[in-house]
Parts: sequence; structure tokens; C-alpha cells
Amino acid sequence: MLLTNEEEAMLKGEQGEAPKLAMEILVKVGEKFGARRLVPVTSAHIVLAMYKSIFDAGVEVCEKFAALGAKFRVPTTLDPSGMDTQDWQAFKTPPEYAAKQQRVAKAYEQMGAIMSWTCLPHFMGMAPRFGEHVGWTESSAVAFINSVLGARSNRETAVIDVCIGITGRTPEYGLHLNENRYGTVLVNLEIGGRPLAAWEYPVLGYFLGKTLGSDVGVVAGLSGSPKMDELKSMLAAAAASGPLALVHLVGITPEARTVGEAFGPNQPARTVTVTEETLPATRKEMCTVESAKIDLVALGCPHYSIAEIQNVMKLLAGRKVAAQTEFWIYTTKQVRDLAERMGILAELQALGARIATETCMLISPVETWGFKTLMTDSGKCSYYAPMQCKTDVIFGSTAECVEAAVRGRV
Ligand code: F3S
Repeated sequence: MLLTNEEEAMLKGEQGEAPKLAMEILVKVGEKFGARRLVPVTSAHIVLAMYKSIFDAGVEVCEKFAALGAKFRVPTTLDPSGMDTQDWQAFKTPPEYAAKQQRVAKAYEQMGAIMSWTCLPHFMGMAPRFGEHVGWTESSAVAFINSVLGARSNRETAVIDVCIGITGRTPEYGLHLNENRYGTVLVNLEIGGRPLAAWEYPVLGYFLGKTLGSDVGVVAGLSGSPKMDELKSMLAAAAASGPLALVHLVGITPEARTVGEAFGPNQPARTVTVTEETLPATRKEMCTVESAKIDLVALGCPHYSIAEIQNVMKLLAGRKVAAQTEFWIYTTKQVRDLAERMGILAELQALGARIATETCMLISPVETWGFKTLMTDSGKCSYYAPMQCKTDVIFGSTAECVEAAVRGRV
């Protein structure tokens, strides 16, 4: 690989042990993917952050970099923590688990990370602009910044993300290159030109992820003006049910003002049609049971915005959550604080709902509660919950989730 003088200096250890190790790893990855050089990035986002999925080996990697004196060269944010950062005991987190998570936090503090603990760094001041190269992990965030903002990132992986933050570089391959960003499959939405209902966004995302695989889809026929929260939910689901990192949403994606622009020099290799039957059928696939007593209603995957929390308040309309049901909403510290200032936090608590902060149902030890059935409005959560939470799952609209929380069953 062609390296600049500064990159060579890092590789030779002239800038310290940590950049040397990080550069050695990145060069190996770059060679494996046929990258000709490294590209400077303006930020990094790290998933090597939650104990539940990084295990002891991940803790040791963080601590090793910290012990080598690593400092992040570009603004580097962290994915959610493996436990509630405000009150981990209240969520039955085992103390030995909490201790490991705290070691991770300490290592990143030493390295100068932005202690964001969210999958939405782009919703908290870190949004890259069109064409900007970044090195992010967290599949939902990568799908969003490529598809909605037109920024450029591959779905980086744990450890590589730390190396990117330390060096401020990533190998130039995949979605950093123009030729790999053009569409390869046409997806026609044939639903009579109507806008999608809110619940249909994560369902369409789930369908796209499953159907497109590694292809770059070009979705034509989305009408209306989807909200950022709806796109967030759709792309998180798409990046969960498949390896999707970029899908062109014609009229939304900056590189896809028209179908022709999205395909560039390519011809569609195949065409997929989404009809009125597709979305209800997909929704069915997203549930492991149709009706059950609901032990946990879990919202906020990706982390809920304040507007989404306000919507839940409206849907609850002063009704209490059923006695045998837990109702948790996952969000960022910033949104939690806003909810507290607005009095929403206290109101939610009085109705039996809880805000869980800077973590989520999939990466915290939810399985320690012994829940049998979980209900969610998240396509990503419905995909992973059986594996990660060891529960049955029912997907529903936010309104249906709130009704289930109040009645305690579906
Ligand atoms: Fe975020 Fe956790 Fe969902 S990291 S996208 S809330 S799985």
C-alpha cells in the first residue's frame, strides 16, 4: 500500500507504540481488501464498547491500547454501554459485569474518546456531510450516514474502529470509492403512491436488508416526506436483517436525485417489487409468536428521540402500565435530561414506564430478568431479540406497543 510520510512514521513507531500497532492492523486489513492507500477520516465511531458483546478479550484490547498511551487523533464516539449508565443496579446488572464495563469506560476516557454511549452520534452533533470520509462501526449508523447524508463509511468492525480513531485513517476500499456506491438492484415500491405508515418503515427496512444482501439497492416510489426518526428506524432494520451499508432512496439520498443518477454506469442486475402484500407478510416474519402475555415492551432501538418519547406520552394518555409488564424506553443521556427538564421523565415513571439511558435491550443483560416475550416497534430489535434477549418477540407499531404495555398482553 502507498503510505504518506506521516503514515510511514506511524508504522515505524516514530509516533509511539499505539499508532504503530494501529497502523500495522490497518495496513493488513487494507492489503486484504485490495486498498491502494489509506484515506483520512474526520471521525471514528466505536462498537468495541459494550461488555455484553466484546467479552473479556475486548476489555483487554481497550486496556492494551490505553496502556500503550493511545490518544484518539480524530473525534471518536462510543456506541451504547452494556448497562444503564445512570443506575445499572436497578436493571439487575451483575456487579462483576458492571466492573468489566467500567474498565472499558476508564480505558476510553484515558484515550480521549467522546463518551457518547449512543448508536446515534450523527444525531448529537457528529453528522458528517455529503462526501465526507469517516470510519464508523454500528451498522444502523453507517447505513444512515451513507444513505441519508451521503457520507462515506464502510461497516467497520470492532478493534479496526479503535485503530481508525488512533490513526485518523482507514483503508480506501468499498464504499469510500465512487464505483462501489452505484446501485445494482432496483426496488420498485408499488403501493399506489401512498406514503408509508410509521410502522411500515422498519418493516420495509427489514425486507430490504433480507432481500438485497450485499447489493446496493435503489428504492424508487417512496412518497411523502419521511421523518428522520422513520428513516433511522428503517435503516437500522435494513442493516440488521442483512449486510446493507448503503441503499439509495431516490429523492432522499444525495447521490440519488433520480434513478439514473443512483445507478450511474450500472444496469440493474434485478428488479424487486414491493406490493401491498409485501409489508404485512414481512411483519409476520418479524414475530416469533402472534399473541402472548407481554413481559417487556422495549422501545428505543435505535435510541429514541425526544419527539418519539413525547409520542409515547400522548399514546399512554395517562394510563398506567400493567402490573406484570415492564415498559422500558432506551435513549441517550441528552434526551433523558431533556425529558427530565420537561417533566416527562417523572410522568413516565408515575405511569410505570422507565427510561433506560445510554444502553439498549440487545447489549445489556436483559436475559437475567427471565422474560418470556418482548414486544417492540423496532425492526432491528425484532431481528436480534430471540438471540440476544432469549425471548419470543412480537413486532408492532408504537401505538400497539403502548396498548400491549397497558393491557399486559397482545
Ligand atoms: Fe442502537 Fe442498541 Fe439498537 S445500539 S441500534 S439501540 S441494538
